[in-house]
Amino acid sequence: MRKARLMLLVSTPLAICFALWAQTDELSSFPKEFRKWAHVKSVLVGAQSNAFATEGGIHHIYANDKALEGYNSGKFPDGSVIVYDLLETKEVAGNTIEGPTRRVDVMVKQSERYPVTGGWEFMSFSGNDQTNGKLSAARQATCAGCHGNRKDHDSVFSEFRK
Ligand code: HEC
Repeated sequence: MRKARLMLLVSTPLAICFALWAQTDELSSFPKEFRKWAHVKSVLVGAQSNAFATEGGIHHIYANDKALEGYNSGKFPDGSVIVYDLLETKEVAGNTIEGPTRRVDVMVKQSERYPVTGGWEFMSFSGNDQTNGKLSAARQATCAGCHGNRKDHDSVFSEFRK
């Protein structure tokens, strides 16, 4: 009896810790389901664009439910995830269609873990890679440096068309 109670005392905090850890870790990894989320917008970045070298192609932006709240209120709650899905384009019979994935950029709001980058973790997955998206603090600072221009909108550039 005493032993069982002791086990409970020891294992409960451990289980809670593990659950919290699993939760944050799941957030800061490739968001496998993002294609089923809300579509925020798309842009076709053509050869005439200044951004063509790095952003050329078609990009779609997706938001999970929490991020959708942020698009409404201008303040993104913890757990918000936004995906910038950049694809190459192909010309087929006069149509410009989606080609292979160039890159998947991800922003995850975890304000206590990422206070210096506006509360966001920035990740970037090349091509079809879903495992090596973690960025160094220096690279995240570069992302946040530019995104910080939208401090009025919690570091998020895009807006949700109503
Ligand atoms: C020079 C400025 C700049 C830098 C650097 C930059 N971004 Fe962005 N990012 C933008 C702009 C502008 C948009 C909005 C594109 C649109 O509206 O179609 C954007 C959009 C996004 C979005 C969709 C959410 C939003 O803000 O609209 C994500 C996710 C994202 N970027 C991730 C990253 C990551 C990760 C990095 C660093 C590896 C990064 N960005 C670096 C300018 C930048």
